[in-house]
Amino acid sequence: MNIPQHISIIMDGNGRWARQQGKRRLFGHNAGVEAVRDATTYCAEIGVRYLSLFAFSEENWDRPADEVKGLMELLFKSMLNERETLLKNQVRFRVIGNTEHLSESLLAAIHKLEEETAAGTGLTLLVMLSYSGKWDILQAARRYAADCLAAGKPLPLDEPGFSGYLATAGIPDPDLLIRTSGEQRISNYMLWQCAYTEFYYTPVLWPDFRKTDLEAAIQSYNCRERRYGKVE
Ligand code: IPE
Ligand code: IPE
Ligand code: MG
Repeated sequence: MNIPQHISIIMDGNGRWARQQGKRRLFGHNAGVEAVRDATTYCAEIGVRYLSLFAFSEENWDRPADEVKGLMELLFKSMLNERETLLKNQVRFRVIGNTEHLSESLLAAIHKLEEETAAGTGLTLLVMLSYSGKWDILQAARRYAADCLAAGKPLPLDEPGFSGYLATAGIPDPDLLIRTSGEQRISNYMLWQCAYTEFYYTPVLWPDFRKTDLEAAIQSYNCRERRYGKVE
């Protein structure tokens, strides 16, 4: 089987999962942590190089304050709880997104875990937090413009060069993008990076997503013919 180098997941459906059980939305987010653990372990096992997880979008800041607070606390708690497992499994942890909006304490905890796991030789786990595709393209354009200004002239720019300004610089584009919960949209995720990504949608709600669901997605990926606009 051909193992994708980079798998990305839009982890959706936590709220609906909670509602089905008559519980508050945060109950669903909490349950989603188990699915994150399962996906991370499985990807590390089968030799995926990068697993990126869309955890919180720029637009998600507009959700009710208690849900936003609960999600940030959940991330904080999960980083503490999962630290040992990440280190043991040689997983490199990174957070990518607009960190301007994050609290000082959360940022400090993120940086600490990023440093502690930096030497990991296995899977790189990318948590896309306060991330949006348009934000990423815009911040890349701004940084390029700043470099031109500093150089006092327009600098040459090609596609690999622009990719180098994105928050995902140095990370290969996703080969496979999975979205759970039946929604079939990109929701302002990695717009530039998904130019030739294979999409896989499943009705499974994120807290229920397990290894077998991931296997099914990889199997589907293996039946795709990636043409990149060319003719066979
Ligand atoms: C995904 O689940 C998690 C985040 C966006 C943080 P949702 O919270 O979007 O769940 P639904 O879509 O309302 O079911
Ligand atoms: C996308 O899910 C963001 C994450 C999964 C983190 P949303 O639930 O926010 O997306 P929409 O609103 O259904 O497009
Ligand atoms: Mg949703």
